[in-house]
Amino acid sequence: MQPFIAPSILSANFACLGEEVNNVLEAGADIIHFDVMDNHFVPNLTIGPLVCESLREFGVNAPIDVHLMTEPVDSLIEDFANAGATYITFHPEASKHPHRSLALIKELGCKSGLVFSPGTPLSYLEHLIDELDMVLIMSVNPGFGGQSFIESSIQKIKSVRALIDSSKSDIRLEVDGGVKIDNISRIAKAGADTFVAGSAIFGSDDYFKTITAMRSQIELGLK
Ligand code: DX5
Ligand code: ZN
Repeated sequence: MQPFIAPSILSANFACLGEEVNNVLEAGADIIHFDVMDNHFVPNLTIGPLVCESLREFGVNAPIDVHLMTEPVDSLIEDFANAGATYITFHPEASKHPHRSLALIKELGCKSGLVFSPGTPLSYLEHLIDELDMVLIMSVNPGFGGQSFIESSIQKIKSVRALIDSSKSDIRLEVDGGVKIDNISRIAKAGADTFVAGSAIFGSDDYFKTITAMRSQIELGLK
């Protein structure tokens, strides 16, 4: 699967968000990662469907990868599908009926995904893997940008890689949290194909240089 670089707009300048998104896309980003926090499931509050809709109205055509860190999830799934989301992912422990929530995402024409926090077991995948377009492994605890990569995530990524390979389905393996130029090759080697990076990209002076460096490190990891 072609590697995707997904800048997380959590670290963008929200005063000029449309331009920030266009700038990372021009610099080579593949998809836009959109972090939704509710100050309940996670201790932070961010953006909702209106902002997603505004980006579409601004002319953003790239896939938008909505990461719900909210509880519950179902009404927001509908709102984000209507607002132009491409992927909608959620944490299984935040839905009373994860299978139903995944079906809802598909019914509304979006791609579905489950997100695993560092402490969440992969056992949820046992009965749900066939419903997924994406598995998102969090390599930090959800809630904030700029945290350090948790090393045990590498083993978890390898485990998910093996599960996806044996399922023979077309499922993306995304990693989110503390992804930087200097660890992305190891993350690719462990089996990830979709790389979220917030502070590493938006905190850099030159988005093109950073994304290009990330891409060549990914290639190195896959050699
Ligand atoms: C954290 C968010 C991440 C965050 C990553 O809860 O899900 O997407 O923006 O930020 P960095 O890349 O700075 O760790
Ligand atoms: Zn995220």
